[in-house]
Amino acid sequence: MLKLSALSVVALGYTPPGRARQPTKLNAGYIADIPQGAPDAILGIAQAFRESNAENKVNLAVGAYRDDSGVPFVLPSVSEAERRILERGEKKEYAPIDGLADYTRLALQFAYGDCAALKEGRIAGVQTLSGTGACRIAGEFYARFLPKGTAIYASDPTWGNHIPIMQLAGLEVKRYKYLDRKTNTLDFEGFMSDLESAPSGSIFLLHACAHNPTGVDPTADQWRAISQKILDKGHHVLMDCAYQGFASGDAEKDAFAIRLFVDAGHSLLLAQSFAKNFGLYGERVGTLSVLCQDKDEASRVLSQLKLIIRPMYSSPPIHGALIVKEVLSDAALSKQYYAECAAMAERIGGMRLRLREEIEAAGSKHDWSHVTSQIGMFAFTGMTAAMCDELTAEHAIYLTKDGRISIAGLNAGNVATVARAIHAVTDGKAIGSG
Ligand code: LMR
Repeated sequence: MLKLSALSVVALGYTPPGRARQPTKLNAGYIADIPQGAPDAILGIAQAFRESNAENKVNLAVGAYRDDSGVPFVLPSVSEAERRILERGEKKEYAPIDGLADYTRLALQFAYGDCAALKEGRIAGVQTLSGTGACRIAGEFYARFLPKGTAIYASDPTWGNHIPIMQLAGLEVKRYKYLDRKTNTLDFEGFMSDLESAPSGSIFLLHACAHNPTGVDPTADQWRAISQKILDKGHHVLMDCAYQGFASGDAEKDAFAIRLFVDAGHSLLLAQSFAKNFGLYGERVGTLSVLCQDKDEASRVLSQLKLIIRPMYSSPPIHGALIVKEVLSDAALSKQYYAECAAMAERIGGMRLRLREEIEAAGSKHDWSHVTSQIGMFAFTGMTAAMCDELTAEHAIYLTKDGRISIAGLNAGNVATVARAIHAVTDGKAIGSG
């Protein structure tokens, strides 16, 4: 039998069974000085919700769909696609840097529809890590190819993550007026005047539909006026499309602004996410695309997008892309998918109405009509940060501090309780809608 001397035991770092290895002092002193980072404004609250032991806690923080029992929902069309993928036994190979070409082609068709630019091959598209990854690459692309100092304008308010994404890409982030906080409707005049006063050639970050966090979208006529003003001013547009299908229940209808801007010939980038509309939150599947003048331009743009992606994360994950591809390439499965997406939007619409009715039934004197006039996954209630804190502390209702609630977190079992709690924290106090 092999015998180890005391010396060789130490040299091999051997620890006899049952004895814990001795901690050594870490040779990395700089770590001791690292400060605690602030929790994320949205996902930090989701974490607090998970950690809460409160009975009947309600999560209205994150924009993630739940069914009427409050359970995350896997679309049956998605499950069927997964079953087929498993049955076929897809390989686990690396995707190309720009992702799975068949997926990207179908994903872009989903957004752009039957469109000359797509057919002519002058939209450069890459698979991305959902909409967030698409925005991040868009930011890098702008920082590399637009003149230094070009600012990006984000709506006030916008999705909280837009701002650090663009700042980390090296862009200066400015804001444009979007929400009239007194009426919780679009501040169209303010928006148009900010489009006018921004230096020509600025970037405007627009939400394609179901604006996050407000649920307030321009009308078709307002979109036309916005489009014309942007053309007149020579601004660039990044459209973030995270909720196609969740605004009206019809993904085709929700692509109105995208298709309007393509046809108008904008300098346009599109960030697309399949997190919400396909329920593929964890798969991280989306696209970034760039509208170009011709095929040659598109090919050069694509080469540059790949140069941005390769050192960032090499290539995207394949599973979500395979699912979306499977669904969108099969007419019957696709039809089923559209119906399932419509059903999710419909449930949310029903919950908006119930919430408003229940708040009114609780005796609230406030005007809550914005809850039903807003669209998409969220209601921007007008509640202050203090009211949000009280909802969490006193009623175990978790929401972001800007007063946004994810309607998808409501269901027949909790909507009345939530409504009564909202009434309790807003009663006799001013909210955004007055
Ligand atoms: C949200 O706004 O809640 C979602 O888009 C989730 C996220 O990543 O913030």
